[in-house]
Amino acid sequence: HFREIVTLDGPAGVGKTTMAKRLAGALGIPYLDTGAMYRVCGMRLGEEGATMPESAIMEVLRSIDFALEGSGAETKLLVDMHPVGAEIRTERVGMLASTVGTLAPVRAYCREAQQGLGRLTPLVAEGRDMGTVVFPDAAHKFFLDAEPEIRARRRLNQLKEMGTSDLPTLEDLAAQIAARDHQDRTRSEAPLKPAEDAVIIDTGELDVDGVFERLLQAIKAKS
Ligand code: C5P
Repeated sequence: HFREIVTLDGPAGVGKTTMAKRLAGALGIPYLDTGAMYRVCGMRLGEEGATMPESAIMEVLRSIDFALEGSGAETKLLVDMHPVGAEIRTERVGMLASTVGTLAPVRAYCREAQQGLGRLTPLVAEGRDMGTVVFPDAAHKFFLDAEPEIRARRRLNQLKEMGTSDLPTLEDLAAQIAARDHQDRTRSEAPLKPAEDAVIIDTGELDVDGVFERLLQAIKAKS
């Protein structure tokens, strides 16, 4: 049985969630979509989150209870006992997540929740700071990257597949993703960057199967 933590970090639209699900399925362990956790925080705190006093932020955060159910590709992230819904998947909520994700109490709350889950079960943990901050001792660390245009196109396809109404144009989506990545890379706490010991994979050069094989081979080689 696989008992370790695998971290997958990288910018928006690089294929982290797709890979996390597949890898979790292959390894027989749950995956943790930490972006979804920040998206939930973004929705609960709203636009006002960025200017709220710390005590008010903490009160909102304390009312959010994260848990995992199931494993493999079927893993569900539960918020207050309910699976997270599709309403968090818009680019507006992504930007809200990025903005509240610059706040120290939000990062501390999510980090502790993530580490708590990681103590209960092996995980494929995907996000921005899994290998650098949350699970610095993880056995297997990866950083996925791809050209911004490729990522915007992928994200647009995902939105189409989800049946999103008011699809953004590719140009608008690319600009929104670029703004979010910039905010994620330049924040002072837990910025988006590869861990020193992460394997960096360019997902623009490979198809889904190709990336998956690279990940699996690297894990097998070290296990
Ligand atoms: O991965 P996803 O696009 O769902 O993440 C939404 C936002 O949540 C990111 O742009 C980032 O600002 C934030 N995030 C983070 N740390 C993580 C995961 C996500 O700051 N580990």
